[in-house]
Amino acid sequence: MQDTTIKPVNVDFARDIIEGLSSQPKRLPSKYFYDAIGDDLFQQIMELDEYYLTRTEFNILSNEKQNILNAVNENGGFHLYELGAGDGYKTKILLKHFVSQNVDFEYSPIDISSNVLDQLERSLIKEIPDLNVRPLVGDYFAMLNSIENEEHHHKVVIFMGSNIGNFNSEVAVKFLKQLRSSLTKGDYFLLGADLKKDPTKILKAYNDSKGVTRDFNLNLLSRINKEFEADFDISKFQHYPYYDPGTGECRSYLISTEEQEVHIADLNEKVHFKAWEAIHMEISKKFDLDELEQFAEESGFELVQHFTDENNYFVDSLWRAV
Ligand code: AVJ
Repeated sequence: MQDTTIKPVNVDFARDIIEGLSSQPKRLPSKYFYDAIGDDLFQQIMELDEYYLTRTEFNILSNEKQNILNAVNENGGFHLYELGAGDGYKTKILLKHFVSQNVDFEYSPIDISSNVLDQLERSLIKEIPDLNVRPLVGDYFAMLNSIENEEHHHKVVIFMGSNIGNFNSEVAVKFLKQLRSSLTKGDYFLLGADLKKDPTKILKAYNDSKGVTRDFNLNLLSRINKEFEADFDISKFQHYPYYDPGTGECRSYLISTEEQEVHIADLNEKVHFKAWEAIHMEISKKFDLDELEQFAEESGFELVQHFTDENNYFVDSLWRAV
């Protein structure tokens, strides 16, 4: 058998590492945070006092579930799609309510991870036995168009958790336009987005006192060590998040505390770090309501309603395709 040093790993991940670490300034895409350890750390983040996002969106959905239903439910029922399945913690509020109201709908969580979807489906069957669920494994937009002969009249798509904040504005609008092209006039989109607020509060959510968010960022370096035989010494990288109230971007960096060289054996790469050189890890953008309306308009939607909490920390913004 031919000896090969190329493991059948994720080719995209390899390319993104090489591209990101040879860029100036250096960067790594935050979408790779979520391996098994990263998933677990993110669960811990969601339970932190400082991380207000999940709790706040949970409350909005609990308080507004009937109003959301009234807004999207038309004759003939609907097909509910969720972009990025997650653990369903927040979505279950809507699902339980809709089922209890005998709403005619089907639920399709969409994710690239069949593992995540299997777990979610099992917990849904147990907790909401009357729910009609059809998980879809694959690319968001391909999956939105994958079901022929729709028995339901329209689509309702949800994208929660302020995941949209991980895109820069240009990419976000591109994403929304692509979403719009998978929909028909009259379909709905519910977008969860974190709002601008006291900058101190925002920064604390990404700089928690237990250091879970630090570990969440450093875990990506550990992941590269494991999956590509690299030798990042994570004790030589400092987590540095900062919030820019001008752009609304919360950005996190890992900063090399000394000059060093890192080897990524499987990729045949040597990466040089100057002392205090940064790797940009994540953007978690915060929005204001006007900005979201602008996004809606630019991408072929109209605003139906903003559902917010009493502090205006977070919004679930409901749009209709026009
Ligand atoms: C899951 C992308 C919404 O940006 O707030 C949490 C991820 N990063 N703490 C966010 C995250 C650091 C989270 N999102």
